[in-house]
Amino acid sequence: MADSLAPEAVEPLLRGRFGRPYRYEPDTETTQTLLGPADAEGAVAVADYQTAGRGRLGRSWTAPPGTAINVSVLLRPPSGALIQQLSLVGGLAVAEAVEEALQLSAQIKWPNDVMVNRRKLAGVLAEAREGIVVLGIGVNVNQTRAELPAEARVPPASLRTVDDVVRDRAPLLADLLTRLERHYDAWVEGGLDAVFDGIGSRDFLRGRRVTVDGVEGVGGGLDRNGRLLVGGRAVESGEVELIV
Ligand code: BTN
Repeated sequence: MADSLAPEAVEPLLRGRFGRPYRYEPDTETTQTLLGPADAEGAVAVADYQTAGRGRLGRSWTAPPGTAINVSVLLRPPSGALIQQLSLVGGLAVAEAVEEALQLSAQIKWPNDVMVNRRKLAGVLAEAREGIVVLGIGVNVNQTRAELPAEARVPPASLRTVDDVVRDRAPLLADLLTRLERHYDAWVEGGLDAVFDGIGSRDFLRGRRVTVDGVEGVGGGLDRNGRLLVGGRAVESGEVELIV
């Protein structure tokens, strides 16, 4: 099976303005630094391998060469927009693309994880600088169970460990970019309300007992600003631990 994220494999599948230009590196430290203020909105950087992939809260993000989707997208949200909501917008695009590929439902674990069968399949990282946001998305696609990070805080999965299928990553990436563009445009136009149904209906934490930065309670959904409701509080950002 052909499986490549090189421009000649992905560019013919692109349907909108996201992915143009399409910058590809076989390996790089992190795709997050390959984009900057001089790039157009929708510019994308993709790597087959990252030597210093970044996760949220200073964690690392790793995947063996040629197994995952490591993509960063340049966004230029309107001033005053709530940037932290972009992790949820990205999560929605990933969840839908994964659902289409697996024909299974996916959930969004606030603030930035995409889950299938209670395991983390993808993560989103929104980094703001110099008036732009670089939205980084890592999707575990073709890793075997042994290739997934053993020390991960949330038990990991790949599409392959879910359904035993080894996939061509290019159509999945193109579909993800199409969905991200649609949801991002809706968010720019109408705020989180415009995409809330898709996010709220996939809320992984709703009804689960959690602690967020030391506060324990049951996930009560997300408010219209994208804050997590727990223990009678609305939490802006933080580290969620599931209590099982
Ligand atoms: C997380 O779950 O903590 C977020 C993971 C984000 C990983 C992606 S892979 C593409 C981009 N480049 C990086 O170094 N990180 C993001």
